[in-house]
Amino acid sequence: MSEGLRSRRSCLAVPGSNQRFLEKAKGLDADQVFLDLEDSVAPIAKPAARGTVVEALNSGGWEGTVRVVRVNDWTTEWTFRDVIEVVEGAGANLDCIMLPKVQTPEQVVALDLLLTQIEKTVGLEVGRIGVEAQIENALGLVNVDAIATASPRVETIVFGPADFMASINMKSLVVGEQPPGYDVGDAYHYILMRILMAARAHDLQAIDGPYLQVRDVDGFTRVARRSAALGFDGKWVLHPDQIAAANDVYSPLQSDYDHAENILDAYEHHTSERGGAIGAVMLGDEMIDEASRKMALVVASKGRSAGMERSDVWQPPSD
Ligand code: GLV
Ligand code: MG
Repeated sequence: MSEGLRSRRSCLAVPGSNQRFLEKAKGLDADQVFLDLEDSVAPIAKPAARGTVVEALNSGGWEGTVRVVRVNDWTTEWTFRDVIEVVEGAGANLDCIMLPKVQTPEQVVALDLLLTQIEKTVGLEVGRIGVEAQIENALGLVNVDAIATASPRVETIVFGPADFMASINMKSLVVGEQPPGYDVGDAYHYILMRILMAARAHDLQAIDGPYLQVRDVDGFTRVARRSAALGFDGKWVLHPDQIAAANDVYSPLQSDYDHAENILDAYEHHTSERGGAIGAVMLGDEMIDEASRKMALVVASKGRSAGMERSDVWQPPSD
């Protein structure tokens, strides 16, 4: 993850047709909220939900939160009107459009072109609204690198486990849990790693999808820890109880954050002229070099974008 990317440890899903849930979401501590026009909204409620979402974005109250709308996918008849109504109505109060069930790079290009047209028409800065590409089926995963680079607007690659399991005929109905009969390893490992590699190769964020047993916070935490351990930046949350768990799991430990910042400071000092211009240096009992700096930068960036503060600051030796 490069420095300066938005924090997305917890990405709260809110049905776009439910005004009460939309209002309630404003007071919650999620890093991102996405107002959904897709699978959590019934087909007959979709046209009206567009207006509800526009109103929720324009009425404010989302300070410090990444504001995203998930539109319907390009195989439906709803996508173009979703994008036009939402961006014309609330484009200035929107950070990203999430495109579900992306299968080809052309689908991202189509969204990019449509966004550009609307931005020009209503006088918004061209290119400011980002795209989150949800990978939810086998074809999308096979094309994930091309999808990641289809537009400079793409900010995140998002795993959609429920649709994905259905798409590949995985023999399980419980998202996040192992399919019965698969008794070696983790059945999701390849999919998660493939998404993570595409995200990291192209400097994007990798976001894990939902855990549907919303009352089981321990189960959520257990599954979240797996993708966090691999390097994912955050996970969807479907219920307020999952927010604190996600913010915790996807933040570095305080001790790791302090350590990372100290490596960066010590390395910068020792490689400078004043510090002796040395490439491999000691920090306490630990040898650090350029590769250590890169690892430290990942942890420090995640901590900074999560608003963490240092509790232990390295001081250069006095000369
Ligand atoms: C989310 O959209 C999923 O399909 O898991
Ligand atoms: Mg889905």
